[in-house]
Amino acid sequence: MDQSFFVKTYGCQMNQYDSEKIDELLVHNGFKKAKNLEVSDVAILNTCHIREKASEKFYSDLGRLSIFKKNKEKLGEKMQIVVMGCVAQAEGQEVIKRNKLVDYVVGPQNIQTIPKLLKIKSKAAIHTDFLCEQKFSSFPKSYLEGTSRQITIQEGCDKFCSFCVVPYTRGNEYSRSVEQIYAEAKNLVKNGALEINLLGQNVSSYKSYIFDKSKKKLVDLSKLCNILSSLPELKRIRYITSHPSDINDELILEHKNNKKLMPFLHLPVQSGSNKILKKMNRKHSKENYIDLIKKIKCEVTNMAFSSDFIVGYPGETDDDFQETLDLIDKIGFASSYSFKYSPRPGTPASLIKDRIDDSILDKRLNKIQSTLNEQQKNFNETSLGKEVDVLFTNLGKKNNQYVGRTPFLQPVHVFSSSNLVGKILKIKIERLTSFSFHGRILDS
Ligand code: 5AD
Ligand code: SF4
Repeated sequence: MDQSFFVKTYGCQMNQYDSEKIDELLVHNGFKKAKNLEVSDVAILNTCHIREKASEKFYSDLGRLSIFKKNKEKLGEKMQIVVMGCVAQAEGQEVIKRNKLVDYVVGPQNIQTIPKLLKIKSKAAIHTDFLCEQKFSSFPKSYLEGTSRQITIQEGCDKFCSFCVVPYTRGNEYSRSVEQIYAEAKNLVKNGALEINLLGQNVSSYKSYIFDKSKKKLVDLSKLCNILSSLPELKRIRYITSHPSDINDELILEHKNNKKLMPFLHLPVQSGSNKILKKMNRKHSKENYIDLIKKIKCEVTNMAFSSDFIVGYPGETDDDFQETLDLIDKIGFASSYSFKYSPRPGTPASLIKDRIDDSILDKRLNKIQSTLNEQQKNFNETSLGKEVDVLFTNLGKKNNQYVGRTPFLQPVHVFSSSNLVGKILKIKIERLTSFSFHGRILDS
C-alpha cells in the first residue's frame, strides 16, 4: 500500500515553498497525502530556527508527535519522523539526541533526498550538505493550482548580520538560473497564477547570467522581473526580502516603468540607531535607509514600505530605542513586523554579555507594536472611499464572501454571488475593520 505523509510548516515563505516542493516530490514518487501529522506514515516537520520561540514550538510539537509514534508502534504500525528545515540544518545530530524517535534530519538543501531515504530506509540519518544546485533541479513540474504563487529564486545570505542564523542555516547566497525560474513561472501561470512572489533571504542580491546573441549578460532582480513580466497572463510580480544596501537604481526604475511590479517593498531596517546598526553588522546607516526611501518615493510616488525591527539588541539604550521610534515616525510604514531580540546559538551576537532585561524588552516591543499598528491604520485609512484593484485568491469565512489583496497586500473582503477567485477587479473600499477592508465590486 502507498505510504501516506503530512508536512507541517513553521516559519517563513521560503519554508512554505520547500514544503510545497517536498509535497509535490512525494506525490510524484507515489506517496499519498494524509489528513494530519498524527495519522501519517511519514510525518515531516519543516522547521524554523530564526528565533528561540519558533524552534521551541517545533520541539514541543515533536514531543507530542512521538507519543503518537509510540502508540502506533504498540499496535504494530510504523511512523517515520522527518525533521527538515533550518533547525535540522543548525542542530543536526542534536535533534536526534533530544528526541530518539526522529528518523531523519534533513537540511533545507537536502530535501530532494527525502523520497529516496524513505524508500531505501537509509540508516544515515543526518543530511545537511549545502546542495542548492541539486535541490532546485530535482523538483518535478508543479501540478498545484492557485492564483497567487511563489518561487524561490535565491537562497542563503552573505551579509552575516550579527544576530541572524540564516547564513549558517541556508548557507552562501545562491541564485537560480533565469531559465529555471522562467520555466517554473510559465508553468505556474499555466496552472492559474496571476501573481508570483519571488522569494529569497536576500532577493535584491539576485545575480545570474544569460546568453543573448552569444553575449553573456548579467541578470539582476530588476532584469529578472522585466523578463518574467513578458508572460502575458501574469499580472502581478512581488519579491521578498530585500537588503537596503542591494537596492540598485535599475530596480527603482523597473518599479517606475513596469506596472506588473507591485509598488510595495519590504525593506527591513532592524533599528534606527547607527550605534546598534553597526553592532548588528547591518552595513547601512539610518541615513542611508532614509535617503534610499526618499529616492524611491521620488521615482515611484505610490510606493509603500514595510519593515522588520528587532528591539532590545544587546546594548540598546532608551535613546537608541527612541531613535528607532523617530525613524518609524519619519518614514511612515504601511505595515511591519517587530521582534524581541532572541540570542541564537552560533551567531556572534549570542556571545555578547550585556543583555537587556526581559521587562524592558516587553515594554519596548509593546511600544513599537502600538506605534507600527497606528501607522498601519493611518496608511489603510487613506484607501477608504477609493477604488482599488484587488486580486481575489480565496473564499472568505462567510457565505458568498471572497478575499483578495490590494497592490499593497491589504486584505479585502467582498460579497458576490459569482466566484471571484482568480479575478482582478476594481473594488470600492467602504469599511476598515482592524486590518482588513470591506468593499463592493465596481465592474464585474
Ligand atoms: N532575534 C530577533 N529577531 C530576529 N530576526 C532575525 N534574527 C533574529 C533574532 N536573533 C528577525 C529580523 C529579520 C526577520 C526575518 O527576523 O528582523 O528581518
Ligand atoms: Fe539574516 Fe537578512 Fe541579515 Fe542575511 S541580511 S544575515 S538573512 S537579517
